[in-house]
Amino acid sequence: MTPSPTDSVQTDLAALLDREGAERELFELLRIPSVSADPTRTGDMTRAAEFLQRKLASLGFSARVDPTAGHPLVYAERLNAPGKPTVLIYGHYDVQPEAPLEEWTTPPFEPTVRDGRIYARGATDDKGQAYAHVRGVELLLSQGELPVNVKFLLEGEEEVGSPNLEPYLREHAGALKADVIVISDGSRFAPDVPTVTYGLRGLSYVEIHVQGANRDLHSGSYGGAAPNPINALAGIIAKLKDDQGRVTIPGFYDGVEELTPEEREMWARLPHSDEEFAASIGVPALPGEAGYSTLERLWARPTLDVNGIWGGYQGEGSKTVIAAKAGAKVSMRLVPGQDPDRITQLIKDYVPTIAPAGVTAEVRGHHGGQPVKVDLDSPFVKAADRALTRVYGKPAAFGRTGGSIPIVAAFRSLLGAPVLLVDFGLNEDAPHSPNESFAVEDYHNGILTSAALLQELGELAE
Ligand code: BES
Ligand code: MN
Ligand code: MN
Repeated sequence: MTPSPTDSVQTDLAALLDREGAERELFELLRIPSVSADPTRTGDMTRAAEFLQRKLASLGFSARVDPTAGHPLVYAERLNAPGKPTVLIYGHYDVQPEAPLEEWTTPPFEPTVRDGRIYARGATDDKGQAYAHVRGVELLLSQGELPVNVKFLLEGEEEVGSPNLEPYLREHAGALKADVIVISDGSRFAPDVPTVTYGLRGLSYVEIHVQGANRDLHSGSYGGAAPNPINALAGIIAKLKDDQGRVTIPGFYDGVEELTPEEREMWARLPHSDEEFAASIGVPALPGEAGYSTLERLWARPTLDVNGIWGGYQGEGSKTVIAAKAGAKVSMRLVPGQDPDRITQLIKDYVPTIAPAGVTAEVRGHHGGQPVKVDLDSPFVKAADRALTRVYGKPAAFGRTGGSIPIVAAFRSLLGAPVLLVDFGLNEDAPHSPNESFAVEDYHNGILTSAALLQELGELAE
């Protein structure tokens, strides 16, 4: 259980919390099926954006819905704290597709509370965490003016790689100027551990396409002589990693930042157990790159994982056929020192060279994202630590995460502002999975943390 608040200011904030109102409004947002990948839901995307815009306008923000070439984004600002820092809060209102629907205990867009958890698509990723900031701001406003200048940027395309946000940042760089960018779109290290996240992995996502004969072939008439694209694909995939779990693409590890001994020690002290981690996902072992601990493999080492595979007959019963084509989707998580465009080029160059005779193999690139590392010696990180300590009654742990938020690197390069990743969720919330959830207490602690963080940031010189 989360310890009760200790600090007196915090007690005041907790006493002001309108739990019922905060839950009711989040549920309204969760009922909107804002699946960015689904072209039939563009109306729902707009509805979600307008919901947020109306809410922020009702809090006295100057708030608008800005169209993009894809889904709209919500921009709002309240700049009534002259001489105080400006905080840009980024989040996303789009969610992943809900499929497979039959695995949900209750429908994905009918939020339901069970065992202290809110079950709904987007509950933790990222509607619940983003809305915690909206309610955190509302909590502070119930006491008076905000202690900092606040800007909200809530996008609708994070789950599809934020293709239109970079142009938007370029165009609005002046208006979006901030001293720090706060993001809550990930997981705390453990239920009883408040966390400041200081690293995100990057991403290169590709498809491998293998082509064999000019049509599907009778596997009796042709088997033994004709090339088999599925077998070929399996061989290609097998060759992409060696028996030590290392990726074999030439140049893949060039420039990868090694962990410092201090960092390795800090992570070794975190309360992590391989046995519990394995048990939590129901597997007997955790295979991976030799020479690195589980946390190191998750947070500081690059990966290559097949995310989907197709080819040949998938229906009931048997069909004796050699397919003409096969394919796979591959995600590579990247770490500081790696560049997604370069990695995509490396795999594009490499795969055709390992395709067996008789087939052609081609790699097509999808979206990507740069890895990110946050400077731990910043006053913003210390302010976050103080805020978390007030809410959770214990100091923050500092860890990285294995996930990616593609736009974060652009925040630094285009807006020149440092990011602060203060996550309210947990891995066990099962983001992207059926039965995604967010603990009701984590939501309310998120609201309190948001309010406390803005107060702490208000104590810093501009
Ligand atoms: N909120 C996640 C990122 C995340 C995941 C942070 C796990 C910390 C832990 C984000 O919404 C997400 O899913 N990102 C995608 C990016 C992709 C769609 C370009 C990801 O990491 O797969
Ligand atoms: Mn997210
Ligand atoms: Mn996500």
